[in-house]
Amino acid sequence: MKQIKKITCIGAGYVGGPTMSVIAQKNPDIQITVVDVNKERIAAWNDNDLSRLPIYEKGLDAVVAEARGRNLFFDTDVDKAIDEADMIFISVNTPTKTYGKGKGQAADLKFIELCARQIATVAKDDKIVVEKSTLPVRTAEALKSILDNTSNGVNFHVLSNPEFLAEGTAIADLHNPDRVLIGGENTEAIEALVNIYASWVPRERILTTNLWSSELSKLVANAFLAQRVSSINAVSELCEVTGANVDEVARAVGMDSRIGSKFLKASVGFGGSCFQKDILNLVYIARSYNLHAVADYWEQVIVMNDHQKTRFAEKIIQTMYNTVNGKHIAFLGWSFKKDTNDTRESAAIYVADHLLDEEAQIVVYDPKVSVEQIYKDLDALGTRTPEANRRLVKVVNDPYQALDGAHAIAVLTEWDAFKTYDWAKIKEAMKKPAFVFDGRKLLDRSQLETLGFKYYAIGE
Ligand code: NAI
Repeated sequence: MKQIKKITCIGAGYVGGPTMSVIAQKNPDIQITVVDVNKERIAAWNDNDLSRLPIYEKGLDAVVAEARGRNLFFDTDVDKAIDEADMIFISVNTPTKTYGKGKGQAADLKFIELCARQIATVAKDDKIVVEKSTLPVRTAEALKSILDNTSNGVNFHVLSNPEFLAEGTAIADLHNPDRVLIGGENTEAIEALVNIYASWVPRERILTTNLWSSELSKLVANAFLAQRVSSINAVSELCEVTGANVDEVARAVGMDSRIGSKFLKASVGFGGSCFQKDILNLVYIARSYNLHAVADYWEQVIVMNDHQKTRFAEKIIQTMYNTVNGKHIAFLGWSFKKDTNDTRESAAIYVADHLLDEEAQIVVYDPKVSVEQIYKDLDALGTRTPEANRRLVKVVNDPYQALDGAHAIAVLTEWDAFKTYDWAKIKEAMKKPAFVFDGRKLLDRSQLETLGFKYYAIGE
């Protein structure tokens, strides 16, 4: 296998950007170009002011500062980057289909197919094509078929290399991954990719499998993680009616070494671009093989998650004397979890939607999410007009402004800074009784109750 000298990554998003930055940082001899059709995104990746990178991840700015301009480049010329590369990562988005067969469940592979066709058209010499996006099992077969049937006698090897980073800790995860997974059929191609990771990841953590195991493992890993959240969330509702405390139950259960303590935190529900989409995808695949019991089993993880978001919104309404009409509800947090500016599928969006149906007046504060993004998320639901969203929802960039005069506070994201606020001052500025609905179990109950708040946390 020839030495990999040039890598191209198609897709400069939450995965492509950070992943390639770290690969470039750790492989200074390989030239890496990340390309995207989104010109603003590429411009932001090239911004001299590193605080304006399109993605907020702790430590990302330092990695970009080290590698950008040395062996890491961001560009919009996709054809040129494909032509020059020995290895091409495809890291484009694979959202749930919103039309046609499989609508609402199957992964929409149109962006993947477009990439494959573009690679096939442009490539003049042999390439290794790496699936970095999360894909339905057996997508590599379709990719290979497109590549082989439309190219000019060029040899392509397709590898699957799903990404396991978690947003919010992307750089730490990339620097020190639990494992790197590489699926493929051609030993030389696999070895070429293993070598790239081996420049910083211990060999024993680089797993190689067949293509289908690799593709399926990513879907299954996300399904298992989401399932744990839904499991503890189901228990949280049981705790609320029985007098048990979900944190105590999670601790007692998680200390069993067969179960483990991670990912057992009850909350308003999981969000993010991946969990829901990947489970829906798994459900769709199972159904397409007529495995209905398997599909029904995994589908319940989503059912439970939707229930938890609805339940939280209803708890707010019910506690506030069955009406939130015209009431000022302050949202602390909009991103789907702390330390990221990503809002895709954030629980906050759905809780807001539910409360807005009841004509609540919401004021949102999030330390990293832009005003435009919040309105975009609400408008995308299509539940009400953009004018109504702007009339009912205000976005502020000072948390105390959001809380001033509020009837209630809803904590939707577990940003650490929320814990350090001056809660006595907040209490003074709020309408009484001052309600706090803690969807992340973030705040200190005894502190808030001592100050006179009516404090509600999930699972207690
Ligand atoms: P993203 O939406 O942030 O980025 C995808 C980028 O691809 C966009 O900037 C888009 O403009 C670009 N793109 C789409 N088609 C293109 C084309 N034909 N040519 C050039 N650029 C094109 O998506 P994200 O979050 O980076 O996800 C990418 C994949 O990685 C998805 O399959 C996702 O499931 C998977 N994944 C995501 C994780 C996450 O935490 N976000 C973690 C692990 C996997």
